[in-house]
Amino acid sequence: MIIGNRLTVRQGGSLRGELQVPGDKSISHRAVMLGSIAIGTTDITGCLMGDDVRSTIAAFRAMGVLIKEQGSGRLSIEGRGWDGLVVPSNQLDMGNSGTSIRLMAGLLAGAGISATMSGDRSLRARPMRRVVEPLALMGAIADTQPDGTPPLTIFSKSDLRAIKYKLPVASAQVKSAILLAGLRAIGETCVVEPVRTRDHTERMLRAFGVELTVDAGVIRMNGPQDLTATTIEVPGDISSAAFFIVGAAMTEGSTVTIRNVGVNPTRRGVIEILRQMGAKIVLSNERFAGSEPLADLTVYGSKLTGINIPVSLVPGAIDEFPVLFVAAACAKGITRLVEAGELRHKESDRITVMARGLQTLGVKLTTSADGIQIFGNERGFTAGSVDSRGDHRVAMAFSIAALKASGPIEVTGCSAIATSYPGFVEAALQLGLKLSKI
Ligand code: S3P
Repeated sequence: MIIGNRLTVRQGGSLRGELQVPGDKSISHRAVMLGSIAIGTTDITGCLMGDDVRSTIAAFRAMGVLIKEQGSGRLSIEGRGWDGLVVPSNQLDMGNSGTSIRLMAGLLAGAGISATMSGDRSLRARPMRRVVEPLALMGAIADTQPDGTPPLTIFSKSDLRAIKYKLPVASAQVKSAILLAGLRAIGETCVVEPVRTRDHTERMLRAFGVELTVDAGVIRMNGPQDLTATTIEVPGDISSAAFFIVGAAMTEGSTVTIRNVGVNPTRRGVIEILRQMGAKIVLSNERFAGSEPLADLTVYGSKLTGINIPVSLVPGAIDEFPVLFVAAACAKGITRLVEAGELRHKESDRITVMARGLQTLGVKLTTSADGIQIFGNERGFTAGSVDSRGDHRVAMAFSIAALKASGPIEVTGCSAIATSYPGFVEAALQLGLKLSKI
């Protein structure tokens, strides 16, 4: 039952059937951003029309870009080139979207546009120094609250310097902000990644005609460079698919096929982690949508076992940990996660918020600054009411937990589900999750 902000899921059942998940959020943001600063008309299919991407679209409309919505995730963008954006007359509202605000910081610095960006309570608590510091090294002028949180203002400045920058945190958002500003800096911009993060920006920049090289975690690009409009087909979002992948994997008797899912190697940590836990996940029909690989995924219910999550798999599954914790809680044995302190800086502090909710549902665990240790119990969860603290991925993760609960699970703070997966409830019902809809 969904009442406003709240969602109730009856216990038990299994997931069966086929579905397609909405477009990848990271790729959709980038398609709108690059299309807006390219020269010519970019056509996008499969774009995620969730609240986060809508914040990005609204920001470019406020800067004079004509973006036509043609239904079912089809967009046509009249790119204005780097010099065609106009200064927005109001503050840009980025809603709940960290990707929008951080990537736009680099893009606005490159475009030489003055603008202030802010968002909802969650976004206004998120750290921005990680993008402001490298942009300042490039000569951009940016300002935040004294504690480094939004509102974030970029001031118009025309002559950016190319820099070599070693990322202090594994962050695709920071990497992308530097690359976007670097497109307008004279000389070679070089970003060094200590661990590989999602590479959608690099792939998509090439699709827009940008020359760059990637070698052993080092990205090099000479500026200035213009972008040429192209067509983009957005694959399904593996981060949205993850809820049903986990739901099916942890309940015996489930079989679910999810079609057209993006399986970029920098994003498929969830598959690898679940396989190590004993899940049966089969990829078929592997192909490419432009520069991004995709596949159909079939997941069979099995018995899961706790593991020590390899540190190398953490960045590639960073958004999937809320639901992976649910899998760990009903697996046999202990699951340990370390070196995942970034989880504390997402839409909520996902270590604390997940730990509280799991404990409410009878799960034994301990947390640390950078991780969690979950003592799995094959009997699953007790009934209870958990607060998602307005975090979309936490809300969806706890609704999946009901598959292995002894009574109903109520989740509050669910309206944020619309930021990344507007059709989640309908998809969950279709597969057999026991939500009853008013
Ligand atoms: C994203 C990068 C990741 C991820 C976020 C989307 C992106 O954040 O958690 O949901 O689209 O670049 P970080 O860059 O902070 O790791």
